[in-house]
Amino acid sequence: MVDPSASPSRPPLSPAALALRLSGIAVIVAALGGAFAYVNGSLDPQRLTPDALVNVLEKNNGVHPGFRRNHSKGVCVAGYFESSGEARAYSRAQVFMESRTPVVGRFALPSGNPYAPDGSVPIRSLALRFTQANGQQWRTGMNSMPVFPVGTPEAFYQFQQAQLPDPATGKPNPAAVPAFFAAHPEAMPFLQWIKTARPSASYATETYNGINAFYLVNQAGQRQAVRWGVVPLSQDTADATPPQGADFLEQDLAKRLAAGPLRWRLNITLANPGDPVNDASKVWPADRKVLNAGTLVLERTQAQDNGECRDINYDPLILPSGIEGSEDPLLVARSAAYARSYLRRASEVNPLPANQESRP
Ligand code: HEM
Repeated sequence: MVDPSASPSRPPLSPAALALRLSGIAVIVAALGGAFAYVNGSLDPQRLTPDALVNVLEKNNGVHPGFRRNHSKGVCVAGYFESSGEARAYSRAQVFMESRTPVVGRFALPSGNPYAPDGSVPIRSLALRFTQANGQQWRTGMNSMPVFPVGTPEAFYQFQQAQLPDPATGKPNPAAVPAFFAAHPEAMPFLQWIKTARPSASYATETYNGINAFYLVNQAGQRQAVRWGVVPLSQDTADATPPQGADFLEQDLAKRLAAGPLRWRLNITLANPGDPVNDASKVWPADRKVLNAGTLVLERTQAQDNGECRDINYDPLILPSGIEGSEDPLLVARSAAYARSYLRRASEVNPLPANQESRP
């Protein structure tokens, strides 16, 4: 009789050799399983996963199908960036070489509630996607505060946990946020800023800061640590009519754009050696050199339900050659969490009224 484990050219395996071979396969399967468990966080339940970050945002704000899990209320904008040429010595990115690069952006409120009244938070955000002629993109999300409350994803998670509604009352424990700040002295620069911050009546009058550090890399491969932001150039930077209702920001933006484009200067601040590049809760000294890299010109706006920004994930690590991420741990955490948020919202039914097109 023919032994089925034997091939015509090889002698049959001894039971010991067969056991060894099978145990080798088992080791590979176990290692692969372990790798998957590591990536999805089930191996180490203490490990902070992107899903945990997005879940805590959902617990705080509710699940609003089709909407971003943070910065949910917003509006699309489009225009272009005009380079001044000043950043060319520091970065080989085409966006600083070409005279014009098209931009699709999004203004938003930093809340996971898409129905939050515009006056409920003193912070506004602006996300931008620059698409270079060579197809490479630079995506950035900026906030109107100059500094982040915390420097690590773990602290961000704990901050969200401190705001969780108590199941008994449906409201957050009023002692939890003060206790969080007492345990996180790094939040002091943010707390100083927020003390005097007021909800602005217009997206157009705000400065928006990238907050995290990045590197510019030039043709010679030299790296310079930077932070960037945009400062409004429009003549009318004063808040217009006193805000009315819950959605005054979008109305103000449409009114201003009907009268002409809005402009911001792109400032790139150069770090001195030793300035922290891994901690978004620390400000850099005010005397650092600032490049005027060019002008952001926003010309038109669209609703986020069907505008171009709806399906953009403003992942801060989508960068063109000539701009690189830094050691800041928030960047990787943001990139992973935004991907989770994007996948959730893009696979949900769009909450548009029945007479409008729905998300495919
Ligand atoms: C670990 C820290 C952070 C987490 C977990 C987090 C989480 C998120 C999530 C889930 C979104 C929605 C993304 C989408 O669905 O497209 C979002 C949006 C946004 N985040 Fe963060 N974020 C963090 C830190 C920051 C920091 C440091 C900034 C600094 C500028 C920032 C600025 C923004 C902006 C501007 C948006 C809106 C983007 C848009 O309009 O599409 N975030 N964030």
